Amino acid sequence: MPTVLITGGHSGIGRVAVEELAARGADLVLLGRSPERMRTVAEELRSRHDVDVTRIEVDLSSLASTRKAAGRVLAMVEDGTLAPLDALLANAGGRHDGPLTYGPEGFETTFTTNVLANHLLVSLLLPVMAPRGRIVLTASGTHDRDSTDGRMVGRTVEPAAAPLARAGRDGHPSLGAGVRYASSKLCLVMDSYERDRRLRAQGSSVEVIAYDPGLVPGTGFVRDLPRPVQAIAGSPITTGLSRRLGGVVSDVDFSGVSLARLAVDPDFVGYAGAYVQANVGTLTATRSARISYDRERARRLREDMEGLIASSP
Ligand SMILES: NC(=O)c1ccc[n+]([C@@H]2O[C@H](COP(=O)([O-])OP(=O)(O)OC[C@H]3O[C@@H](n4cnc5c(N)ncnc54)[C@H](OP(=O)(O)O)[C@@H]3O)[C@@H](O)[C@H]2O)c1
Repeated sequence: MPTVLITGGHSGIGRVAVEELAARGADLVLLGRSPERMRTVAEELRSRHDVDVTRIEVDLSSLASTRKAAGRVLAMVEDGTLAPLDALLANAGGRHDGPLTYGPEGFETTFTTNVLANHLLVSLLLPVMAPRGRIVLTASGTHDRDSTDGRMVGRTVEPAAAPLARAGRDGHPSLGAGVRYASSKLCLVMDSYERDRRLRAQGSSVEVIAYDPGLVPGTGFVRDLPRPVQAIAGSPITTGLSRRLGGVVSDVDFSGVSLARLAVDPDFVGYAGAYVQANVGTLTATRSARISYDRERARRLREDMEGLIASSP
């Protein structure tokens, strides 16, 4: 039985993924900030599939909370109450519309949640990954400023840690929600590649995949937007138009099952360092933004992120 840890497994794409994983016999570790919703999902999974489900609270907009949650996972693996992780799915994330907000460490919420917390979580949990384990980080096609998705949401800025973590503060320019979101996902893709390169250099068998689920209407993704805008964003007219313009479009069932397949399916052995995209019923490795392959930028990004993380123990 594989053991799979997922953030945000109680809703949207993650909810479909955990159902598919449990149906394949995987034991699950749900990490999230909504204890009641996680409890309900855990009970449903246990009763339908007879799998073990562990729930751990985490608020990924806080590095302290992320450290604490990772500490609980490490302790459980150490005392044998949890098996080493066959997959770690960093699925939780989002865009934060409205005024800029900052987590307890003073870093902008979108960058903290989508990038810094994922980097920290993966770093802390690497020691408990099973051999040939997979780490799947959920990105977004918006990370590519030259793509239809990138142009629609807001073109990315330079993938540099400090200006994004301190956007709107300390002399760094304020950025719109779409730009912050797309830029955070660019950083996530670059950090996935950098992580994978380092694991390969160390001879590790753990593989890292960046995953683009496509534009998926009907999840909680645009929850901060006014209701009429949410309705427009999720309408078949919008997805149809996006598709005609070359956007990457999917539905929640396909993207959720795809995430589960990336975690445990033997078809995806050897996808280390890949960018895999769900697009109208196909799941394929494809090219990400040109800038995402810039190794020097990725190395600097990682160093600067680690500096920010270390400055907030
Ligand atoms: N839907 C799309 O069109 C689309 C496109 C490309 C990429 N994505 C990516 O796909 C992933 C899943 O999103 P979704 O579409 O399934 O939306 P969703 O239904 O809103 O799911 C997002 C999940 O992330 C969790 N989350 C957000 N902030 C968190 C925090 N600070 N701490 C802990 N958990 C947090 C949410 O928890 P709560 O329920 O407790 O808020 C929720 O479970 C995200 O990374 C998103 O960026 C989505």
